[in-house]
Amino acid sequence: MTSDDLFSMQPLPVSEDSIVDSRLEELRRKIAHHDRLYYDQAKPEITDREYDALYRELVDLERANPGLITPESPSQRVGGRPQGAFAQVQHLVPMQSLDNTYSAEEIADFVERLQRLLPGEEIPMTIEPKVDGVAIALLYENGLLVRAATRGDGTSGDEVTRNIRTIEVIPAKLHGKIVPKVLEVRGEVYLPKETFARINAERDELGLPTFANPRNAAAGTLKQLDPNVVAERKLSAVFYGFGAIEPAAGDALPESMEKFFGRLKGWGLPVNPRHWTARDAGEVMDAIRELGETRRGFAFETDGAVIKADLISQHARLGSTSKAPRWAIAYKYEPEQAKTRLLNITVQVGRSGVLTPVAELEPVFVAGSTVARATLHNEEEIARKDLRIGDRVMVEKAGDVIPAVVGVLTAERDGSERPFRMPTHCPVCAAPVSRTDGEVAVRCANPSCSAQVRRRMEYFASRSAMDIAGLGEAVVSQLVDAKLLHDVADLYTLSADQLLPIERMGSKSVENLLAAIASSKEQPLWRLLASLGIPHVGLTAARTLASSFGTVDRLATASVGELCSVEEIGEIMATAIHDWFRDPGVITLLGKLRDAGVNFGERDAKGSAPAADGPLKGTTWVLTGTLSIPREEAAEIIRSRAGKVSGSVSAKTTYLLAGEDAGSKIDKAQKLGVKILNEEAFRNLIDRGE
Ligand code: IVH
Repeated sequence: MTSDDLFSMQPLPVSEDSIVDSRLEELRRKIAHHDRLYYDQAKPEITDREYDALYRELVDLERANPGLITPESPSQRVGGRPQGAFAQVQHLVPMQSLDNTYSAEEIADFVERLQRLLPGEEIPMTIEPKVDGVAIALLYENGLLVRAATRGDGTSGDEVTRNIRTIEVIPAKLHGKIVPKVLEVRGEVYLPKETFARINAERDELGLPTFANPRNAAAGTLKQLDPNVVAERKLSAVFYGFGAIEPAAGDALPESMEKFFGRLKGWGLPVNPRHWTARDAGEVMDAIRELGETRRGFAFETDGAVIKADLISQHARLGSTSKAPRWAIAYKYEPEQAKTRLLNITVQVGRSGVLTPVAELEPVFVAGSTVARATLHNEEEIARKDLRIGDRVMVEKAGDVIPAVVGVLTAERDGSERPFRMPTHCPVCAAPVSRTDGEVAVRCANPSCSAQVRRRMEYFASRSAMDIAGLGEAVVSQLVDAKLLHDVADLYTLSADQLLPIERMGSKSVENLLAAIASSKEQPLWRLLASLGIPHVGLTAARTLASSFGTVDRLATASVGELCSVEEIGEIMATAIHDWFRDPGVITLLGKLRDAGVNFGERDAKGSAPAADGPLKGTTWVLTGTLSIPREEAAEIIRSRAGKVSGSVSAKTTYLLAGEDAGSKIDKAQKLGVKILNEEAFRNLIDRGE
């Protein structure tokens, strides 16, 4: 933030609308940018005071010019920052929590109490997994999803509809002919355990803080201000209850939870993969034990069982306390931990040079498998836990999958334990390590470090990047050891003569590998951009950059300002991209890739070059929301007809192509008078033009 930002308010002539408007636009962009850093990346670049000054200027300027206030202005958020960037919504019925128990005795007490409260009645019960995610309430009106809210304080929560709409398993429209007039359905949004493991590995690799467990990761993801990030994280959900329900005319309320689960399924809402029924405390405990044995097989993390009275007519008569219903209770399993010894701490080097300390443990069985290694993330983490080599430690599995050292048994120390020091030189190539101010990550500063080359190569070839079959870890390792690969461009000069002498490489596998490498030259631009290791650029940003700039050359020559004008690209990322393309090593690498014939965007979508002339010449397009084809494909249709595709709506935009669940870009387009086309109208236009 410069002093300009703090002092530019007074001299602004309030009457000159265009100047005020552009300052407002700038302030809103800056605030959105700093919100992103603060909320998404937990990496604020300015102090709260500086943020407040920007915010105050925005509010003062809007107060003087109320006609220029837009609904998406940060000032229009209820609550503001730091209370939360989301509007608050009142739940139709409060979202309560559950009482917890840990023992069979307490389960027996619970069942006894039900019988005492409803003497002489049969009280069938259901038992289901307790999903460890984030509680959510979705409101469907006549079958359409109109609102989604988190639990919040139980009375009101954050409105997260836009983020919830990115979750594939949540239908925007209930399936079936008979849908309730009103349904406030409740459940849990979760991050699948496997995705959690992948995200944490990626974050470690980039030197970003990792999530402690899938629940935190899901909560953090739902709080993202950018729905594209949410979409990429692949959240999922399970539904198990309702707040308000008003059946369709002629339809009745379900009689039991069991029947309600069936209804939910019919409406296309995901439910728990298993549930049990029981008539007494013994049967409840049998179900709890069976769930305990199978719970690790679910995609979500579960730390308990929820026992509910099955008949809905009994719920109202059982009632609730101020905190929890009397008709349900949660049984919590003991967290599985194991004691072992920390034998050593080794250091791994990632593709961007980040050094990650790894615990080498005496193998121990915990939560279903043997654990011998666990990432310790970074030096601070080790200091915070006061971990020393030789310590007796407690291990757990974060999210049931990732082994983690959770504590030290300091009482068991005998004085022989040694503190860990991060090496001052790379353990692989011996180059000095460096630390960027304000980052916890320590990096090997040598881009030719063989460990970095290996990791970059593996990443380049991986499924989500250039997708080169047959080029896995083992083959990469052999090629690097044989000094055939120094950078990713060397892949494209490999010959059969060089490959055949390598151990375990038969003529067939050499042929296949060379064919896979050759066909990777035709991969679309976004894959190339995702694979190069441009700082801060993951899959989402790579797609955005590809559809906004179209070719490597246009991207490489873009100014920081041009990069920033793309909606999802903030200042830090823009500067990093800009600087990266000006690094002499990068310029050489790109030259080699170009000479090898790798597609730099010119041949995207079936080999077509961007047309110099065509029916869409002179038009600028912005794409938003979900289309029936990938966005990049739609962008290519436009470019092949000489149209331009840009990332953000401005006065220069001719058309906004809006798919389903389009967000704030629609409001902006409306405000600027930009024509909005849905996919059908787009197709009509294209068909007419041909
Ligand atoms: S029923 C009145 N069923 O656990 C609350 N809750 O610790 C009725 N939860 O707030 C909730 N799995 O967010 C229910 N199968 C399940 C659940 C479940 C997870 C959550 C829910 C609740 C919290 C209580």
